[in-house]
Amino acid sequence: MDTLTTPPSNDTPRGSLACVGMGMTLGSHLTPLARSHIEQADVVFAALSDGIVELWLQRMHPDVRSLQPYYAEGKSRMVTYRQWVELMMTEVRAGKKVCGVFYGHPGIFAWSPHKVIEVARAEGFAAHMEPGISAEDCLYADLGIDPGRLGCQHFEASQLLFYERRIDPTGYLILWQVGLVGDLSLKRFSTGPAYRQVLVDVLSQDYPLDHEVIIYRGVTLPIQKPRIHRIVLRDLPNATLTAEETVVLPPAAPLKLNLAMRERLMELDKAYSVA
Ligand SMILES: C[S@@+](CC[C@H](N)C(=O)[O-])C[C@H]1O[C@@H](n2cnc3c(N)ncnc32)[C@H](O)[C@@H]1O
Repeated sequence: MDTLTTPPSNDTPRGSLACVGMGMTLGSHLTPLARSHIEQADVVFAALSDGIVELWLQRMHPDVRSLQPYYAEGKSRMVTYRQWVELMMTEVRAGKKVCGVFYGHPGIFAWSPHKVIEVARAEGFAAHMEPGISAEDCLYADLGIDPGRLGCQHFEASQLLFYERRIDPTGYLILWQVGLVGDLSLKRFSTGPAYRQVLVDVLSQDYPLDHEVIIYRGVTLPIQKPRIHRIVLRDLPNATLTAEETVVLPPAAPLKLNLAMRERLMELDKAYSVA
């Protein structure tokens, strides 16, 4: 009988799943709850940004299985991510308490944690996501941005090229995975200047070419300092950019008053005797 359809017998311990975030910086971002999921698991799967962070994780659990070797140049990332889901689910179906550990927040720009939780729940297993400190959180702290002040749009950079999206240049624009922007194949780990030029051409519809662009890399090891590199938009194609950097465009225009809505709200205030 297929493992997908085998009901658990009464003497089989029921498998379960927790996808937890490791945070970005070794040693300081792991929450007590995430650590407890790791320590109490039977098997731990790890998709981390740094080999040193993986060594640290191995000190917390004797059975840590790295998911990194499933990546390969020329292999679709979707194939890799589906393999990760199957690897974790195989152990859950075998009755194991499984913990998937992902760098940053497990639910931010990460396909497999959401998918494996969906699959586990659909098969009747308990599944939980435990948040972590993401690159986004570090970015707000290191760049001094409050997303609530002017608003903040986040896009996977390729989405701006593959789909027609509406950018609001009165708020911050945060672009993820710019290092591999425009990769339709999902098989490459970086694209390059010609692909980034297409991104600049799209962005130049909303931003002048001399608009500031911040290339940001938060620290993964406590000995590092954040990398904050400011350039202008036209120079983005040839800038040094790794897969671990996020690109920020500050607002290019002031907020515009919505006079019609203000008028309407004042009428309401009058009607409710607030004014
Ligand atoms: C697949 S996503 C994973 C994000 C992760 N789950 C998180 O919570 O931050 C990878 C993207 O995250 C961003 N990223 C990863 N490491 C980073 C770092 N150290 N500093 C800034 N951005 C980073 C980059 O935009 C990169 O392309």
